[in-house]
Amino acid sequence: MNRLAEILAEKGDVVLRLDADASVLDAAQRMVQYNVGSLLVTDDGRDVGIFTERDYLRRVTLEHRSEETPLRDVVSSPLIVAAPDTTVEECMALMTDRRVRHVPVADDGKIVGLVSIGDLVKFRSKQQSFELRYLTEYITAH
Ligand SMILES: NC(=O)c1ccc[n+]([C@@H]2O[C@H](COP(=O)([O-])OP(=O)(O)OC[C@H]3O[C@@H](n4cnc5c(N)ncnc54)[C@H](O)[C@@H]3O)[C@@H](O)[C@H]2O)c1
Repeated sequence: MNRLAEILAEKGDVVLRLDADASVLDAAQRMVQYNVGSLLVTDDGRDVGIFTERDYLRRVTLEHRSEETPLRDVVSSPLIVAAPDTTVEECMALMTDRRVRHVPVADDGKIVGLVSIGDLVKFRSKQQSFELRYLTEYITAH
């Protein structure tokens, strides 16, 4: 199968979010608390973009913005999304082309999960271990 739906079935559909009026310091604290590198940014309950560790480095630290800066001033928007039936390979290509490491998964306009580059690498590496074990057993059995 190899589709993002498979990764979400294992990882879960929780997506961490923060309101656009929250500060970048709130965002950093939440990312550390939940051990994630991104947060979806919402405005009036709608998903309007994403804020990542990389955005903090580039748009806050290097541009000398205050830690009270609201997320709405530094959010990456619009979102680059994939679908549940997008394959892992297609999503890896999307991440490479668009230079992003976090991709929300949308179904019928609704965000149903989020995958990171680490999720895709973990999935591929698990799959390759299975293939290797299968081939080794096949060779030693014949
Ligand atoms: N052991 C695991 O299951 C696992 C899975 C993914 C990543 N990692 C490790 O974490 C480190 C960094 O990973 P990364 O660069 O992929 O990014 P990351 O630190 O942002 O991702 C870590 C995990 O948090 C999840 N995540 C990130 N933002 C989220 C959000 N807003 N809502 C819900 N979930 C969110 C990701 O999907 C991923 O499962 C690496 O060292 C990687 O190996 C471990």
